[in-house]
Amino acid sequence: MSARAGAPRHVNGHCRPFLKWAGNKYRIIERIRALLPPGRRLVEPFAGSAAVFLNTDYARYLIVDSNADLINLYRILQAEGENFIRYCRRLFGPGANTPETYYRRRDEFNATGDPRRKAALFVYLNRHGYNGLCRYNARGGFNVPFGRYRRPYFPAAEMRAFHARAHRARFVHADFTWAFAQLREDDVVYCDPPYAPLSPSASFTGYSAGGFGLDQQERLAKLAEAAARRGVPVLISNHNTSFTRRIYGNATRCERFQVQRYISCNARRRHEAGELLALYG
Ligand SMILES: C[S@@+](CC[C@H](N)C(=O)[O-])C[C@H]1O[C@@H](n2cnc3c(N)ncnc32)[C@H](O)[C@@H]1O
Repeated sequence: MSARAGAPRHVNGHCRPFLKWAGNKYRIIERIRALLPPGRRLVEPFAGSAAVFLNTDYARYLIVDSNADLINLYRILQAEGENFIRYCRRLFGPGANTPETYYRRRDEFNATGDPRRKAALFVYLNRHGYNGLCRYNARGGFNVPFGRYRRPYFPAAEMRAFHARAHRARFVHADFTWAFAQLREDDVVYCDPPYAPLSPSASFTGYSAGGFGLDQQERLAKLAEAAARRGVPVLISNHNTSFTRRIYGNATRCERFQVQRYISCNARRRHEAGELLALYG
């Protein structure tokens, strides 16, 4: 067990999310913060591990994601704090890091109707599953294989840091279009949709059951334009491709840069990907 207590792991003074999450924006948080305008409430229609929520200072947050398990976990941590952290820690005890325990708990996760148990198992699976992936089969069953980590980390301090800010937030399981329908004056929106494919054949849409297609990427760009026309600024991050440069063609400002990504636990498979940030309004 590696339930190290103490301060949350920070890099350059940034607060690290307690979940591993594909496409998390922890590494480019400074670039995002530099472009986000001030406002009363930050709306995040694609919350993921909520790296931006954790590293900004708005009075209120509307945190939305279409992954029901993720939002269930955030709500339970918000309501229970330390009690829930203690409950999760028990799943990281001796015997937790074996394939037998992992697959038994994965089955339990897929079968249980108890939201608290499901939330704790989600934390366990996130730290013991392959690459911290979150992937479901066509029937909605979580199907990530065992991760074979040497010493899975229990993110107690990071969960505490999340809980400490959660009173400012409302967590909602919904589609991004719902979040746009909630916008009001003095809101700021940060959108981090699943990446548009780097090439038309290379599509990664494994975030939750149901993918995120090019039509939805275009719909998001149109919603951002409409929000900006009503005076609500919207920042979107994505891969830098000819497709994204076209759909964000009406943005007020577009920044392009390179990011080093780790696409597997094998460091040799690191690669540089071009990213962009498009600001509307
Ligand atoms: C790139 S991740 C966000 C990462 C996040 N910014 C972070 O730092 O961890 C994209 C997120 O969008 C969510 N998502 C996918 N389709 C969605 C939809 N139609 N509406 C809302 N959220 C969606 C996924 O569940 C995933 O958490």
